[in-house]
Amino acid sequence: MKTIIEPFRIKTVEPIRMTTLEERQALLAEVGWNLFGLHSDDVMIDLLTDSGTSAMSAEQWAAVMRGDESYAGSPSFYRFEAAVRKLMPFRHIIPTHQGRAAEAILFSIVGGAGKLIPSNTHFDTTRGNIEATGATAIDLVIAEANDPDNLHPFKGNVDLARLETLLERQGAAVPIVMLTVTNNAGGGQPVSLANIRAVAEIAHRHGKPLVIDACRFAENAYFIKCRERGQGSRSVTDIVRDMFAVADGMTMSAKKDAFANIGGWLATNDDVLAAAARNRLILTEGFPTYGGLAGRDLDAIAVGLGEIVDEQYLRYRLRTNEYIGERLFALGVPIVRPVGGHAVFVDARRFLPHIPPLQYPGQALAIALYEFGGIRSCEIGTVMFGRKPDGTEAEAPMDLVRLAMPRRVYTQSHADYLIEVFEELLVARAALRGLRISWQPERLRHFTARFAPLAQGAPRGQ
Ligand code: F0G
Repeated sequence: MKTIIEPFRIKTVEPIRMTTLEERQALLAEVGWNLFGLHSDDVMIDLLTDSGTSAMSAEQWAAVMRGDESYAGSPSFYRFEAAVRKLMPFRHIIPTHQGRAAEAILFSIVGGAGKLIPSNTHFDTTRGNIEATGATAIDLVIAEANDPDNLHPFKGNVDLARLETLLERQGAAVPIVMLTVTNNAGGGQPVSLANIRAVAEIAHRHGKPLVIDACRFAENAYFIKCRERGQGSRSVTDIVRDMFAVADGMTMSAKKDAFANIGGWLATNDDVLAAAARNRLILTEGFPTYGGLAGRDLDAIAVGLGEIVDEQYLRYRLRTNEYIGERLFALGVPIVRPVGGHAVFVDARRFLPHIPPLQYPGQALAIALYEFGGIRSCEIGTVMFGRKPDGTEAEAPMDLVRLAMPRRVYTQSHADYLIEVFEELLVARAALRGLRISWQPERLRHFTARFAPLAQGAPRGQ
C-alpha cells in the first residue's frame, strides 16, 4: 500500500474553532503581530511546537488514574524509573518538571565561568542555562548542516575533527561533551550511531563524560534504522540502547519523545554528580522520587516510553513531515532538506527575497500563515537570534519558520490544508511586507516583542 495511515483511532476529540480572515487580522493587530500572544483557541492548526502537545493514549490516561501521589517512594516513580532504564540503562535517574530543569541542575554543577561545553548544536534553553553559569556553549555541527539543500543523511552529526581539536587545545576547560538528538536547532536532523560512538570515543579518550540531550531519541533511532548501513534489520529499542550505552548521562524533556504533556529527567552514571544533583533537586524541584512532577505524570511518561519506540508509530511520524516537505518542495517552497523528524523548516529568506533579514522575513511568513490560514508556526531567525547581548542587531545565519508537528494530534487533511495555505501564499507573496519591532524586552525577545508591519518597500525604522 502507498498510504501510510495514522496508526491509531480517535476516541476523544477537541473541537477546532474556525476563524475568519477579518477576525485573524484584528487579532494580529491586538497581539502586536506576535503569535505567542494569541489565545490558542484562536488558532486552527497549532504548529508552534511539538513539546507537551502530544495526544496521550488510552493506556496513558489509564495510567494517570494509577498515579500514586505519595511524597516519598511512590510506586509511580519506580514504574517511571524502570521504563527509562529499559531504554537508557543509567545508574541514577532523577525526575524533573521538564527538560530545562534538568539542564539547570546539570550546569549548576558542571558549568561556571571559563568552562566550555561543546555539542552538535545546543538548543536555546541549554545554551541559556550554560551561559547563565558564565560558561560558553560551543556548536560543532558538521558544515553540511548549514546548507539547506545538502542531502546528507545525518546533518546532526558532530564535526569530529573540530571536537578533537577543541579537546586537545582547551580540554582542561571542558567539563562534559554534549550531543543533541535529534538536532532541533539545526532542523530536527539526526545523528548517526557511528557519530555518537565516535563522539563518545573522543570524549572518553580525553577523560570527558558524554551527556546526551535526548528529547527526540526515538525519532533519531528510527532515522538510524532507515538510513545507516547495517541498522535496517535491527529493532528501534536495540538502537536506542546502543545510542545510550556509550553515554555517561542524559537530559530529557518528556514533553517530546515520551508522549507526556509535562516532565523530564536527568540521568547519570556518576555517583558524585548524582548526589549533587539530588541536593539541588530538593531545593528547586522536589524530593528525588517525584522531582517537580505529580505521580500521575510519572506514570504517563512510563507508558509513553513504551509507545514511542513502536515502529509503526515512528514510520507514520517521520512520514508525516516528509509528506508535507515533499509537497511543499514540489510547489517550489524552499525548505530545509532532508526534512527533520519533528518539523518542516521553511526557508523564509528565500521564500520572501524582497524582505531583507532585518525586516524579519521569518516573522512575516509566520504571520501570513496565521492571517491566511489560522496556522501558528514559529520564527527561528533574526527575531529569535538577531539581538546581541550589547543590544545591537545583526541578521541571523538563516531566517526559518518551523512547522512543528504535535504527536498523534493532526491528520492528513490538516497537512493537506497546510499545503493549500502555502499555495495561496505563493500567489500572494510579493505583497507580503516586512516588520519593525515597536517594543522589545532585553532578552528572549521573540516571546514578547511587539511588531508593526512596514509599508511596502519601506526602509527599516519607518
Ligand atoms: N533540548 C531540546 C533539543 C529541546 O528541543 C527542548 C525544548 C529542550 C531541550 C528543553 O526542554 O521545553 O522540556 O524544558 N524544545 C521545545 C521546542 C520548547 O519547541 O522545540 P523543555
